[in-house]
Amino acid sequence: MKKIAVLTSGGDAPGMNPGIRAVVRAGIYHGLEVVGVRHGYAGLLRGDFIPMTLESVGDIVQRGGTCLYTARCPEFMTPEGQQLGFEHLRQSGIEALIVFGGDGSFHGALRLHEMGIQTIGVPSTIDNDIACCDLTIGFDTAVQTVIEAIDKIRDTATSHERTYVVEVMGRSAGHIALQAGLAGGAESVLIPEVPYQLEDVIKRLERGIARGKKHSIIVIAEGAGSGVEVGQYVREHTGLDVRVTVLGHVQRGGAPTATDRVLASRLGAYAVNLCMAGESGKMAATQNGELCAVPFETVFNSVRAPEMSVYQLADILSI
Ligand code: F6P
Repeated sequence: MKKIAVLTSGGDAPGMNPGIRAVVRAGIYHGLEVVGVRHGYAGLLRGDFIPMTLESVGDIVQRGGTCLYTARCPEFMTPEGQQLGFEHLRQSGIEALIVFGGDGSFHGALRLHEMGIQTIGVPSTIDNDIACCDLTIGFDTAVQTVIEAIDKIRDTATSHERTYVVEVMGRSAGHIALQAGLAGGAESVLIPEVPYQLEDVIKRLERGIARGKKHSIIVIAEGAGSGVEVGQYVREHTGLDVRVTVLGHVQRGGAPTATDRVLASRLGAYAVNLCMAGESGKMAATQNGELCAVPFETVFNSVRAPEMSVYQLADILSI
C-alpha cells in the first residue's frame, strides 16, 4: 500500500481534527502518502483532493470542527455519484479511504468497499448513536458543552425562580440528553427511547414545588419532542414562569475534551493500521477500551440503546 485518503462527512464532531492528524501522522510514519478529501463525499465527487503533510495537521489537535470541511451529500447516495467518487479515487491511485462520520457516512464507505476501494470508518458524531463501540468521537465534548450550559441556566433559573426547558441535540437518540440530564441535575429528562406523559412532568414539578423547590430544569432530546411546545404546555398547566433554551449547534463546536482527543488519536492511527493490514468495510472502534474492527453490516444491524440504569438513576436522583 502506498497511498491513502481521509475525509470527514456528515455533521462535524469535536475530535475530528485530532483524528485527521492521527491518520496523517501515522500514515506518514509508516511511509504512506496521505491525501485529504475536502468537503466529505461532495469533495470526492469533485476530486477535491489535497496532499497532507506533517505540517498541514500542525496546531489542530485542540481545535473543534474539521480542517477538511464536511458536508451532507445526497448525491453520493446514488449509484452514479458512487461511481464518480470511485473513479476519482482510482484515477488518483488512492487504495484506501478512511471516513470519519456517522451511520450515513458509513453506508457510503460500505458502497465504495463493495466497488473495490478499501474503506475504514471512524465513528464520529456528537449523537453517540453508533452501536458496537464504547463511544463516538465528539460525544464527550458535546455533553460537556451541554452541562456547562445547564449550569449557567441553573444560575439564572435560581435567581429568577423559574422553570427552564433545555432542548438538546441527538437526532433520534437520547444519549446527550440522558448524560447531560443526569450530570446537570435535571428534574426531568425526556428522551425518544422512553415514552413519557407531560402530565407526569407536571406532577414531578408540583411535587418539587410542594417541597419548597423554586426552580427546575427539564432536559428534552430533540428526538423526543419540541422544547418550545413542552415549555408552552408546562406554562399553561402550571402558571409557572417558564423559559425555553434550544441549545442548537453550539453543541457541535468547541475544543475537544481530552477523552475525545485521545479516542480520535487512537482510532485514527488504528484505522491506518487496518488499511495496511488489508482490512476493509469495517469500523475502527474501542470496545471495553480495546481497539477492534467491526464490519459495517454488524454496526448497521445493531442499535445502541440508552443505558436504562442511567435513566432510572436520573429519575431517582431528581425526585
Ligand atoms: O448528527 C449530529 C447533529 O448535530 C444532530 O444532533 C442534529 O440533529 C443534526 O446533526 C443537525 O444537522 P444540521 O447541522 O444539518 O442542522
